[in-house]
Amino acid sequence: MRLVNLSLTNFRNYKKESINLSPSTNIFIGNNAQGKTNILEAIYTLALARSYKAKDKDMIMNGAEFYKISALIDFFNRDEELIMIGANEGKKVFAGGREIKKISDFIGKLNVVLFSPDDLLMLKNGPQEKRKLMDMSLLQISKQYIDDYTAFKKQLKLRNDYLKYLLPKINEEETVSDDMLDVLTSNFISTNTKIYEFRKNFIDNLAKLTTQKYALLSGEKTTIRFEYQINFKNNLDFYKEKYKSDITAGSTQFGCHRDDIKFYKDDQDFETACSQGEMRMLSLSIKLALADMLKTMKNEAPVLLLDDVFSELDKNHQNRLLTMLDKSMQIIITTTDIYKIGKLALDNAKVFMINHGAVKEAQANG
Ligand SMILES: Nc1ncnc2c1ncn2[C@@H]1O[C@H](COP(=O)(O)OP(=O)(O)OP(=O)(O)O)[C@@H](O)[C@H]1O
Ligand SMILES: [Mg+2]
Repeated sequence: MRLVNLSLTNFRNYKKESINLSPSTNIFIGNNAQGKTNILEAIYTLALARSYKAKDKDMIMNGAEFYKISALIDFFNRDEELIMIGANEGKKVFAGGREIKKISDFIGKLNVVLFSPDDLLMLKNGPQEKRKLMDMSLLQISKQYIDDYTAFKKQLKLRNDYLKYLLPKINEEETVSDDMLDVLTSNFISTNTKIYEFRKNFIDNLAKLTTQKYALLSGEKTTIRFEYQINFKNNLDFYKEKYKSDITAGSTQFGCHRDDIKFYKDDQDFETACSQGEMRMLSLSIKLALADMLKTMKNEAPVLLLDDVFSELDKNHQNRLLTMLDKSMQIIITTTDIYKIGKLALDNAKVFMINHGAVKEAQANG
């Protein structure tokens, strides 16, 4: 899968821009705050129909009423145009000139893996960022997950609203017995079970691939282990015991919306015992593993988006990362300085300069 062209209108600091990309490596160079990350965010947003870091309305250029991202994609040597338009009232997506009403039919038409400086948040900011990794990956991998996830969120909200409604009605002494709550809980459990199975499977596969990638990237013989942690049992009796505390809290306290992943390197917890460099290598290994997984499951290579990741690695690890990148994939790299990018990446690369939301093609060795 290749991005042939990317066109932006009123997208963050891009008034109007059109970029013809190389099917292999593309490098965007610019000083801070010129619009490098915005390019990658636009591509990611088109792939997942949402940004990884902001709400739709935040991406509209200040003072404008809408943004438009369009891209010409080469799928198996067949071109298709994807368009996303975001406005304050909501968003619309189009493929091949037709509006796609169901967002799950649009997500995953373009597949991407983003390597971002924010990936480290996954190891620093607690479980929420790890659930985001699982969700954003699974949304791309499986259409069924998109539907199941939507159903899960809906059941969770229905149950939470009802718990809040029950709060003034419960009596301190009595145990809670409520038919409606039983029904809502059973519905919640059935969607929760599906999400749990998807995530568990995903984590098991990702862990295996990540171990291989970590060994190659670090050059060390270590064992990487993922531990998927849940706080529930998927049966009504378990939830019935928690009725009173759920009502008091006004929310469902047990379920996949509270799950977590722990990462270990030879039994050392990455979050508490590993160095910054080791954390970076873990996050890169996870993303490399994800790229392989997407390629296998979708039968087509995803586009790799690398946001300023080279500047954080020493030359040795930079070269290791470069040799590990699958050459069959299209790569889009941003950097503040061409000298931060190894020679290996520059060969045959198309180079662009970014200046205040304007993109110009440059000579790779100029
Ligand atoms: N909605 C918006 N309207 C107009 N400008 C915006 C909007 N959102 C963000 N910007 C501007 O886009 C600029 C570029 O942001 P971006 O994150 O792409 O920079 P960058 O080139 O990646 O910089 P760095 O090297 O610091 O990461 C910022 O100055 C920001 O103020
Ligand atoms: Mg940036």
